[in-house]
Amino acid sequence: MDFNENVHILDHPLIQHKISMLRDKNTGTNEFRSLVSEIAMLEGYEALRDLKTKNIEVETPIEKCMTPVIAGKKLAIVPILRAGLGMVDGVLRLVPTAKVGHIGMYRDPETHEPHEYYCKLPAPIELRTILVVDPMLATGGSGSDAIAQIKAHGGKTIKFMCIIAAPEGLKKISEDHPDVQFYVGHLDRELNKDAYICPGLGDAGDRIFGTK
Ligand code: PRP
Ligand code: URA
Repeated sequence: MDFNENVHILDHPLIQHKISMLRDKNTGTNEFRSLVSEIAMLEGYEALRDLKTKNIEVETPIEKCMTPVIAGKKLAIVPILRAGLGMVDGVLRLVPTAKVGHIGMYRDPETHEPHEYYCKLPAPIELRTILVVDPMLATGGSGSDAIAQIKAHGGKTIKFMCIIAAPEGLKKISEDHPDVQFYVGHLDRELNKDAYICPGLGDAGDRIFGTK
């Protein structure tokens, strides 16, 4: 399946190794949570490589020099509830000054259609680089609607980061939002009849929070 140039499949061996641990049904809640956070940090390193920098003066033990730091404090991390929450602290470890918004999306178990139940974004959202995070991109409905909602609130510069994507969902979301950059840990084979990703890792929210 072909995707546009805004889709980045991250094939780093450390990310792949940690995703394999996540997939294992014997990985317990505590380890699962840690892995999700570590993968988010590794993916965030890639997704944020175009953050703007500015030079400041620093005095080393040897001499003064001009040296780059991240310019401004305009990053917003927006997890899609619930499972996206598991990726927030990994990105915050990279950019501790980032603000955090929340979007609540619930996927109907029968129709697989997304329903929004909450949206709170940090102002001024139109000036921020917005990193939307959700471990799973299945049909693409939740992610696509979440991005549409952020745009409706004024969001302009949007990136979307997930751990596992299904081809069908990645195609849909990248076509719905050709202006958004997508960062994917691994592209899996397909969706099953219940719209779960195969081989996937099961229900990410349940595995992060120990529900079910
Ligand atoms: C999961 C996942 C995504 C969504 C992906 O959330 O975290 O948000 O499903 O599916 P889609 O691409 O087909 O929309 P879920 O609705 O299960 O909610 P939860 O995070 O509260 O468990
Ligand atoms: N949501 C999940 O958590 N897992 C899937 O495989 C599909 C949707």
